[in-house]
Amino acid sequence: MIRKVKGTRDVLPPDSRLWVEVENTAHGVFDGFGYDEIRMPVMEPTELYVRSVGEDTDIVAKEMYTFADRKGRSLTLRPEGTAGVARSFIENGLGQRPQPLRLSYFGPMFRYEKMQRGRYRQFSQIGIELLGAATPAADVEVLLVLHSFLAELGFDDLVIVLNNLGDPEDRPIFIERLKGELGPSRAELCSDCQRRWDANPLRILDCKVPRCRELVADTTPVADVANEEARAHVEAVEKGLEELGVRVRRAPRLVRGLDYYLRTVFEVVSPALGEDTVICGGGRYDRLIADLGGAQVPGIGFAIGEDRLVEVLPDAFRSEVLGRPIVAVLPVGPEAATAGLSLSRRLALAGLKAPAEVTGRSLKAGLKWAGKIGARAVVILGASEIADGTAIVRDLEKGEQKVVPLDDVADYAHDLLATPIEA
Ligand code: HAM
Repeated sequence: MIRKVKGTRDVLPPDSRLWVEVENTAHGVFDGFGYDEIRMPVMEPTELYVRSVGEDTDIVAKEMYTFADRKGRSLTLRPEGTAGVARSFIENGLGQRPQPLRLSYFGPMFRYEKMQRGRYRQFSQIGIELLGAATPAADVEVLLVLHSFLAELGFDDLVIVLNNLGDPEDRPIFIERLKGELGPSRAELCSDCQRRWDANPLRILDCKVPRCRELVADTTPVADVANEEARAHVEAVEKGLEELGVRVRRAPRLVRGLDYYLRTVFEVVSPALGEDTVICGGGRYDRLIADLGGAQVPGIGFAIGEDRLVEVLPDAFRSEVLGRPIVAVLPVGPEAATAGLSLSRRLALAGLKAPAEVTGRSLKAGLKWAGKIGARAVVILGASEIADGTAIVRDLEKGEQKVVPLDDVADYAHDLLATPIEA
């Protein structure tokens, strides 16, 4: 037996229905705020990620699926979407379009990570990017879209945490201060942090090792070192969110694993998964497009990990999607097969979930099959019904049935499926 690659998954029915409905909900909310989907390649030149995500990040240093194609060019399976959006923005001259540009994306990302719960090597992201607006209002909008989407799914326990990373010019000052404060206890930092000390000291703030956390807890928050303008920016974002009733919490040690961020950065954590399993990450990246050779175009966005999101979906959303009732179409005898499909088409186009029996089962075996697939009702079509232009609609819960003219079957079945099952 050939098995799937480690870290990849098969999303099978009925779970796949949750994914489809999550994506439909995202499309609905994002479209409403004016975001249109961009579909990008899943592989890009390796250089794109080295120059955007950053050479010293975990993603680029250890997690990319990089390979040479047949002509020896170095390609990488995308580990995230923002770099591709920036590349596409420059390459397609999207700066010529009315600004700001609002884009959404959906699809697989690839990171060669250590295997653990909620962490996959192929995972899906749902993201948006708002390009060409540098105002606090732009940040507020992006967080509002995020909040609205999560609320549409029925979440009420998720926490948005946010921090101010300042501008790149503030970073050397912050790093000097951090190293000054941690210097006396440097030897107590974990081996990863020893490496980060020179390569990417900001990431020490993000270390999950308890002793590192303790040491970091007493250091000056990065926001305190940020310049005045950056501070005013993030404070205005917080004020705007408060006015809109979007609750966010300041997390003074929050930094993210991608180098392009500045000023506003944020994450969403779920109490159900614990604070180490982040459902969504995002932030502002005003230098990214210029760093990749484009114009000075500011940007902000987020990406949600769909695999993790689906894992913690609220029960109400889950049961509504998985509990969608089925009406099975049961033609009896080979002569009824086509009429069965015709009826299935009619019901399907009327918005019902109405699979037909196509394997030639007898009435008795067909009823058993309908029960197994969880049908609430069956529509039986035998020779005499076809001759009369009728069908028998049977409520499998109540054990009642009725002969209904073919033209009325869709309405009748619709009403029947909508009636609650009595306890
Ligand atoms: P990120 O934080 O690296 O940000 O990833 C976003 C989300 O993708 C994470 O919060 C997590 O839910 C999910 N994710 C990441 N790695 C895995 C994994 N191995 N398995 C399952 N889920 C995972 C970015 O990718 C940025 N591009 C977000 C962004 C958009 N910033 C601005 N715009």
